[in-house]
Amino acid sequence: MKSPIIFLNAFPMNETMWNDQVEGLSGKFQTITFDWRNLTSMESMADDINNQLNTLSIDRATICGLSMGGYAALAFYRKYSERVHSLILSDTRATEDTDDVRKRRFEMMDIARQKGSTAIADIMMPGLLSEMTFQSNPKIVKRVRAIIESAHPELIVSALRAMADRKDSTDLLPHISCPTLVIVGAEDKMTTPMEAEQIYAAIPGAKLEIIPNAGHLSNIEQPGLFNKAVSRYQFPVASF
Ligand code: MLT
Repeated sequence: MKSPIIFLNAFPMNETMWNDQVEGLSGKFQTITFDWRNLTSMESMADDINNQLNTLSIDRATICGLSMGGYAALAFYRKYSERVHSLILSDTRATEDTDDVRKRRFEMMDIARQKGSTAIADIMMPGLLSEMTFQSNPKIVKRVRAIIESAHPELIVSALRAMADRKDSTDLLPHISCPTLVIVGAEDKMTTPMEAEQIYAAIPGAKLEIIPNAGHLSNIEQPGLFNKAVSRYQFPVASF
């Protein structure tokens, strides 16, 4: 039996953002990806994860969320901690939105409604990848843009609202008692290494992996290093 890992998407990505993890880690783990069905709130996203586990008859899994997926992973832990074997919190933060960020989310909702997902891709792209990726890996740049452009504007609006409404999870961190791995791209401008270090410092026994030459989408930019970080972290099957 392989240990299950369920991968949770960033905004405004879809499950294909995890293709390199499915390919690289399926030999060792049961890798599970899915597209959000109910993006109305972090709690509804936690219910989505719960339903996925029920559908697959999995009692407990490793929950790996990147950015918005990390917000959802923390919401899932808050609501269903008994189903969490371990957490991987990648390129994410525990704090709620500041007023400025929340205001910007509502502006982006208008942009998504009026101009569609291409305009959202134009705004988001510069923050998602490292300079090195932009300069040396046009394939990744093209792939990420294509994923964002394929997102339905209404889905973008729902995700923005869910993120704007999310609770601060800082108070939860010291109570997390499962093994936790924090991963961050060394050049992540959206959820910085400093924020990752704060999460790492607050969760008892957590581990931290900083991925060089990666920005916010560290799993796409450095899939080999990301997968190695996940593999290095031990998930004993017997304890699932
Ligand atoms: C993400 O990558 O999921 C989002 O950019 C996170 C956010 O906007 O807070």
